[in-house]
Amino acid sequence: MSKILRGNEIPPAEGKLGVLIPGIGAVTTTLLAGVFSSRKGLARPLGSVTQTGKIRLGKRTEKRMVPVKEFVPLANLQDMVFGGWDIFPDTAYQAASRASVLERSHIEAVKEELDSIVPMKAVFNKEYVKRLDGPNVKTGKNKMDLAEQLMADIDNFKTKNKVNRVVMCWAASTEAYHQSAKVHYSLKEFEEGLKADNPAIAPSQVYAYAALKKGIPYLNGAPHLTTDCPALMELANETHSPICGKDFKTGQTLMKTIIAPGLQARLLGVSGWFSTNILGNRDGEVLDDPDSFKSKEVSKLGVLDTILRPDIYPELYKDLYHKIRINYYPPRGDNKESWDNIDIVGWMDYPMQIKINFLCRDSILAAPVMLDLILFADLAQRAGMYGILEWLSFYFKSPMVKEGLYPENDLFVQRTKMENTLRYLMKEELIHHTGLDYYYNLEEAE
Ligand SMILES: NC(=O)c1ccc[n+]([C@@H]2O[C@H](COP(=O)([O-])OP(=O)(O)OC[C@H]3O[C@@H](n4cnc5c(N)ncnc54)[C@H](O)[C@@H]3O)[C@@H](O)[C@H]2O)c1
Repeated sequence: MSKILRGNEIPPAEGKLGVLIPGIGAVTTTLLAGVFSSRKGLARPLGSVTQTGKIRLGKRTEKRMVPVKEFVPLANLQDMVFGGWDIFPDTAYQAASRASVLERSHIEAVKEELDSIVPMKAVFNKEYVKRLDGPNVKTGKNKMDLAEQLMADIDNFKTKNKVNRVVMCWAASTEAYHQSAKVHYSLKEFEEGLKADNPAIAPSQVYAYAALKKGIPYLNGAPHLTTDCPALMELANETHSPICGKDFKTGQTLMKTIIAPGLQARLLGVSGWFSTNILGNRDGEVLDDPDSFKSKEVSKLGVLDTILRPDIYPELYKDLYHKIRINYYPPRGDNKESWDNIDIVGWMDYPMQIKINFLCRDSILAAPVMLDLILFADLAQRAGMYGILEWLSFYFKSPMVKEGLYPENDLFVQRTKMENTLRYLMKEELIHHTGLDYYYNLEEAE
């Protein structure tokens, strides 16, 4: 029997929190520069629920809006220590410069901190990321050997930095699309597959295995399979490790899961949703490969069905034509531009159109998501939660859920789920938003 710890039963976030990241690229270096700058008071961590969010507690009449970081016991930014792996040996300073997300002055202001992060040798297989190749890669006699090398890296990192707890978050390139194969069906088969160098085990699954074996939460910022298979879920349950994914929800999909719930709530039909993007960063280059794009496409396509529910409202959504395009366009760098054309249908079947043109910055949207996920996953583990953290769906394009459930993609349902989970953890009343007790004096009537 598992038990969730609540209120002051949850151990405080004492000591240092280690953060280990496969992939020291655009998103990671933007996260790091933001955290280091915030620590120095040079930048504001906007977009982060843990740093800037407030949560309502109790009835509206109580007027209690409490900062999230004061409400739940989270690690603070000063206590975070970072490390990671990459197939290129560039320090986080060099990688940030190359990524060109941030202005030079923002990178220079935290040069020393960024330069101190030197990526460890990665577990990599070009079959899974066809557009990249790099020299900073581990060799070993089989995938189990590579997993053991990663576990040794984790141990060394913990000792060197004297960290009490560790979270691992994947922010490396999107791997080629693959589904669960027999080797992923049970932990036993998976471990045999690691020893036999089974080609169906992706590099990200070697990292996840190493983390979960050590009881470390594993978060998947990319859309590929990794822990979304029975073998690694079994391991997460066995070692009481939290897992969640997949694919940070930013940019166009964020917009989609903001707009679609509104259309559905007002019972407006949708006959077509065409989404196209241009982006020119390394992520865009990797996604230019059809196999990596397929992972992204599957993750992006799923959101509309679970929000609009054509199974329940066939008259409004059964003919919906949903198309997604990602085009690699180097001049734009990390400053992605997306266009959405939405064909909607209203009263007496009259057609209307909505156009969205979002000029976003990919990594600027992803960094706060990654920070919140790390801090909440650490909280979850201290509270005794393990396996899939569905309450963090808010941050993912393609949320992992327990078998038998469909994922919740509506951003507002996801937000309610997350806030109510925090209230539950801190033994506060869950909020149902009816207000009936106030209008009808229900408490007194009872
Ligand atoms: N930026 C966003 O808004 C956003 C949103 C959702 C998901 N993502 C995902 O986050 C990930 C990172 O995005 P990014 O823009 O930082 O990409 P990036 O290309 O800038 O960085 C990825 C890094 O991962 C490294 N890498 C590749 N395979 C590796 C391996 N096996 N082990 C260690 N390192 C490896 C690459 O060398 C590169 O430095 C991608 O999978 C992307 O799809 C990004």
